[in-house]
Amino acid sequence: MCGIVGYIGTKKAYPILIKGLQRLEYRGYDSAGVAMISDSGDLNVYKAKGKVDNLTEFCSDKDISGSVGIAHTRWATHGEPSARNAHPHYSSTHNLAIIHNGIIENYATIKAKLQTKGVEFKSDTDTEVLVQLVEYVMVKKNLTLLEAVQVALHQVIGAYAIAIVDKRDPRQIIAARKQSPLVVGIGEDEFFLGSDASPIIDYTDKVVYLEDGNIAVIRLGEELRVMSILGEEQELNVKTVDIDLGQIEKGGYNHFMLKEIFEQPECLKNCMRGRINVEGNHVTLSAMIDYRQQLLSAKRIVIVACGTSWHAGLIGKQLFESLCRIPCEVEYASEFRYRNPVVTKDDVVIAISQSGETADTLAAIQLAKEQGAFIYGICNAIGSSIPRATDTGTYIHVGPEIGVASTKAFTGQVTVLSMLALCLASERGTISEEQYKEMVKELTLIPEKQEQALKTNEQIERLAPIFTYAKNCLYLGRGYNYPLALEGALKLKEISYIHAEGYPAAEMKHGPIALIDSEMPVFVIATRDRLYEKVISNIQEVRARGGRVTALVTEGDTQIQKFADHIITLPDTLECFQPLIASIPLQLLAYHIAVCKGKDVDRPRNLAKSVTVE
Ligand code: F6R
Repeated sequence: MCGIVGYIGTKKAYPILIKGLQRLEYRGYDSAGVAMISDSGDLNVYKAKGKVDNLTEFCSDKDISGSVGIAHTRWATHGEPSARNAHPHYSSTHNLAIIHNGIIENYATIKAKLQTKGVEFKSDTDTEVLVQLVEYVMVKKNLTLLEAVQVALHQVIGAYAIAIVDKRDPRQIIAARKQSPLVVGIGEDEFFLGSDASPIIDYTDKVVYLEDGNIAVIRLGEELRVMSILGEEQELNVKTVDIDLGQIEKGGYNHFMLKEIFEQPECLKNCMRGRINVEGNHVTLSAMIDYRQQLLSAKRIVIVACGTSWHAGLIGKQLFESLCRIPCEVEYASEFRYRNPVVTKDDVVIAISQSGETADTLAAIQLAKEQGAFIYGICNAIGSSIPRATDTGTYIHVGPEIGVASTKAFTGQVTVLSMLALCLASERGTISEEQYKEMVKELTLIPEKQEQALKTNEQIERLAPIFTYAKNCLYLGRGYNYPLALEGALKLKEISYIHAEGYPAAEMKHGPIALIDSEMPVFVIATRDRLYEKVISNIQEVRARGGRVTALVTEGDTQIQKFADHIITLPDTLECFQPLIASIPLQLLAYHIAVCKGKDVDRPRNLAKSVTVE
């Protein structure tokens, strides 16, 4: 959370910084701010509560000159969202300004110490403590900015990506990272900084992903230098990024979320490209070739993830257990990391994360690594921290996901889990060759079937107004559709702020049934599978209590329409792939309900796309 942008070069910094912030707004939008060293040598800091647009309005009559600057979009952790707590933060003398993504855990101790030395603080943030500490050691020990940053970071416990400017040295930005992402872009006589590459790719495709514990010394007219906090020079690992700009623009849709829902057929083709051989109906994952032994000898699979990625993990569990006969557990990374779990070297731990930066998932990986488990990552953001922390893995390749509510990443994750389960099952001989080929073939047909599912968009748009007045909704499903019920409910909560719960349909009678009345919309995933008849009984139970049912059914279904208030018809597929299709109407439902309610779909309140704090 929190987005960081920086620029130093010969161009005007302000437009580059603002555009960069707009790209990174998915990381947080509680406040935004910019610090620039002006043409006359002043260090100007401007900040505003709320979104980047508020900042640009605030800056409209300010001095925005200068070719060096840093900027920040915030997701609040310490201190309420306000202009006062917005970054950048000045040091006491106003010579330095800092931006920070992460949490300084021992900030209170450092702050108390500095206060006894007479340092006054202007904000409630942990970040201000860092810039004050840097200035304090700089003055006290007569150090350069770089040396002072090294000393300060040595005293700090926590996670950070930071950038600091000093108005007395306008040709330099010092940046550093530990557990929060930071990318340096290298142009012609100019450098860029970003929490990811999206603010940089308009200007250069040459980037350095800073490693944990490293500092970047960015000096105009000199080569980029990267060193450890202790000052050991590090080899520069310059990478070429290949992100299509069109992929991060809205492309004619009103919201990124809608665009990303509609992209799914293409995304899944990309996800399977080069991995599924259509003629031979065969899946090849490079991880399976390189680490065959480690993966095949797994006695157990443990999936760690958060949020939507955790829901994908629940589907993975059913795939691994039913197809591969490997016991599988799915853990919230945030719980797993703190509960002293039993992990052994016979375990394969699969970490699922769209952003590849989720702090709890990273910590869970660390813990599992220490216990000797083999770690497999399923991520979207290329070069992010999780793929770098794992032994091997598979990218989902669905392109940048900007809408805060995850959509295409979910189906990408389920697709990779399906491919991995099929590979393992085939190698372990737990499914027949015939079943394997039939399943691989069916997986390749999913994008086409998703196209069909997307045709429900207009129907769902028409239905959505009916649900805008609901205070609570229930989502029901069984088997592979149960995690989907959880996911449908999460989508609705996140963007429409309607309380929603996902439940295994049969479990409803053990409690939630008490809530059902005519005010409570119930969405049931009732596609044709082994449990179809049982789900029909569950629908009857809801109807008997006056509940209003909207059912997702398989084409050709003639039964459910007799008792459902609304039906949404979907193409048929194998039971285990149903979530790849049925997720689409659930995403669309949440989207249209939120739009009808006038909510900011792409930037829901209190949320951030990348949760880099625990
Ligand atoms: C929901 C959503 C979140 C994320 C969760 C994990 O729409 O986006 O629940 O799924 O924060 O994020 P990643 O997958 O980046 O680790």
